[in-house]
Amino acid sequence: MIKFENVSITFNTKKATVNAVRNVSFEVNKGDIFGIVGTSGAGKSTLLRTVNLLEKPCSGKVNVDGVDITVLDKQSLRKARQKIGMIFQHYNLIHTKAVYENVSLPMKISGKSTKEISKRVPDLLEIVGLSDKAHIYPGQLSGGQKQRVGIARALANESQLLLCDEPTSALDLETTKSILDLIHDINKKYGITVLLISHEMDVIKSICSRVAVMSEGEVVELNDVYSLFSNPQHEITKQLVRHSLNMKIPEGILGDIEGKLVRVLYRGTSALNPILSNAIRKYPVDMNILHGRIEYINNQPMGVLLVNINGENNDVVNLIHYLKENTATAEVIHD
Ligand SMILES: Nc1ncnc2c1ncn2[C@@H]1O[C@H](COP(=O)(O)OP(=O)(O)O)[C@@H](O)[C@H]1O
Ligand SMILES: [Mg+2]
Repeated sequence: MIKFENVSITFNTKKATVNAVRNVSFEVNKGDIFGIVGTSGAGKSTLLRTVNLLEKPCSGKVNVDGVDITVLDKQSLRKARQKIGMIFQHYNLIHTKAVYENVSLPMKISGKSTKEISKRVPDLLEIVGLSDKAHIYPGQLSGGQKQRVGIARALANESQLLLCDEPTSALDLETTKSILDLIHDINKKYGITVLLISHEMDVIKSICSRVAVMSEGEVVELNDVYSLFSNPQHEITKQLVRHSLNMKIPEGILGDIEGKLVRVLYRGTSALNPILSNAIRKYPVDMNILHGRIEYINNQPMGVLLVNINGENNDVVNLIHYLKENTATAEVIHD
């Protein structure tokens, strides 16, 4: 559905030259919910905006549904854009217009008749759960409701592709979940391809199937979400995953811990028990579980444990080696 080929974007400002996107190449398959994650300033929005050519690449190609969008003439570009919906962190609604007018705007621009519009808008409002809000102004809506209007507007011209730039970053946890559920439902029901940006791994983890990690303009890692989460390779990915797992031991307690603290990550629910008991049988050490949880990513379980290990240095080293060999990862995080 989307193919980025060696896309680079450089901004020249008075103060500096910013290489916002550097030589990015990857593909997003039709029907996927594809995530781009990375810290602020990584180049995510700039890359996303090349898909509807709000940002023109300095070099490289962006293919959307088989067409290189960077070389289209004005009229073809306008046509292509109609099939691409976009939603934003701050919704970008028109405050002087009611929900109905906001949603119908893209149809008006593309020359649809009043009849077509009056047939389509109620359907759109029903999809996003706002049937009773057609004549309300954005100022009277909650953040979540505003984003629902944004989604309805993005789908107005029967878009095949939905671009989402931090769609839940201004929302609370509960509302975030309901908006992500809605995007997920729309993807499943209508087969609309979704390209979603977030600085939060939790958002990516909850609905995406594949993900690219961006840092300083580059894609540093690309994988399916489960693999990326359970076996992160790049330091940036590791940080994002660690932050998302949020398995911190309070500093005060950390100071009192003797021996090593090891984070063990394993795939599957039942795999760990025999590994831990075998490990203790093999090496005479004390092992104490301080924290543990199981995450479900795309319905696949992944377990994380923090274990405190005490004993003769050699035994501890050997045991950690044994854990490394028999689990997805085992990392000493404190010693
Ligand atoms: N129009 C612009 N002019 C100059 N610099 C820009 C412009 N847009 C983005 N940048 C810079 O490009 C880099 C990437 O920005 P952006 O794509 O918005 O990152 P992200 O969405 O990952 O937070 C940042 O350093 C940002 O300051
Ligand atoms: Mg951004």
